[in-house]
Amino acid sequence: MSTNADILIHAEEGVTTITFNRVEKKNSLTAAMYAQLADAFETAAQDAAVRVVVLQGDVAIFSAGNDIGDFLNQPPSTPDAPVFRFLRAIAGFPKPVVAAVCGPAVGIGTTMLLHCDLVYAGDNAAFSMPFVNLGLCPEAASSLLAPQLMGYHRAAEALLLGEPFMAEAALEVGFVNRVVPPTECNLVAQAQARKLAAKPLSALIETKRLLKKGQTTVVVERMAEEGRSFGRMLREPAAREAFTAFMEKRRPDFSRC
Ligand code: COA
Repeated sequence: MSTNADILIHAEEGVTTITFNRVEKKNSLTAAMYAQLADAFETAAQDAAVRVVVLQGDVAIFSAGNDIGDFLNQPPSTPDAPVFRFLRAIAGFPKPVVAAVCGPAVGIGTTMLLHCDLVYAGDNAAFSMPFVNLGLCPEAASSLLAPQLMGYHRAAEALLLGEPFMAEAALEVGFVNRVVPPTECNLVAQAQARKLAAKPLSALIETKRLLKKGQTTVVVERMAEEGRSFGRMLREPAAREAFTAFMEKRRPDFSRC
C-alpha cells in the first residue's frame, strides 16, 4: 500500500491497482502525484509479481488533469519533470494497463488513456483535451495517437475545440472498450484485469510488444517534441491568462494573446 493519500496503490494477485484519491480537487494531478505514478509504473515493470496495472478514479471523477496551481507555480520545464517521467513510464510499460473512467477525464486524464490497453467507461464519463483553451498544445503523443485512433477530423475537433465527448461517443470511435453503469466500472476493470493476470505473463508481454511494434520510437519522439512546445507555451501569456482565470474563477480574456 502507498503512504501518499493522493495516490493509492494496492497490489493483489498480480494486479496493481492505482487509484487517484484527491477527489476534493477533482483528482487533479500534482508534481508529487506524477512522481509517485512514475515510480509505481517503473517498479511494476520490473516486478515479476505484477502482471497487470489498473488505473482508476472515483465514481464521479476520473481526473481533472494537471493541477492548474502547479502549472502556474512550478511549470514542468525539463524532460525529467515528473509529468514527463510518468508519461514515458506509462507509454513504455510492457504489461497490460486497464483503465476505469467515470466522470470527467480532462487533459492528461484523457491522454493517458491512449497508453492504456483496455478502457472501461462509466456512462457518466466525459473525455476532453482542452489544451488550446488553455493556450497549450497536445501532450502524451495525443497529436499522433488521437488521429490514429479516432480519425483525423474527430481528433481535430477534440483537440482544436477542446470540447468534451461523452462515453457513448467515445465507444463509437473506439476510444473505450465498453460503457457500463458508473458503480460497476471499477468492478468490470478489476474482473478484466484478473482475467489477464491469470494468463502467461510472457505471452502478454510479447503480444503487447507486437501490438505496439513500429509505434514505440515515433511515440517517444512525438512526446518529446510536444513536451518542448508545451513547456515553452506554459510560460506564455495565453496560458498564464488561462490558469490565472481558472484560479480566479472567471472567464479568460485572450484578446491580447
Ligand atoms: N487543478 C487544480 N484544481 C482543480 C482542478 C485542476 N485541474 N480542477 C478542479 N480543481 C479544483 C477547483 O479549483 C475546486 O477547488 P475549490 O473547491 O478549492 O474551489 C475543486 O477542484 C472543485 O472543482 P470545480 O470546478 O468546482 O468542480 P466541477 O464539478 O464544477 O467541475 C471539472 C469539474 C473537472 C469539469 C472542472 O473542475 C474543470 O474543468 N477543471 C479544470 C480542468 C482543466 O482545465 N485541467 C487542465 C487540463 S490540461
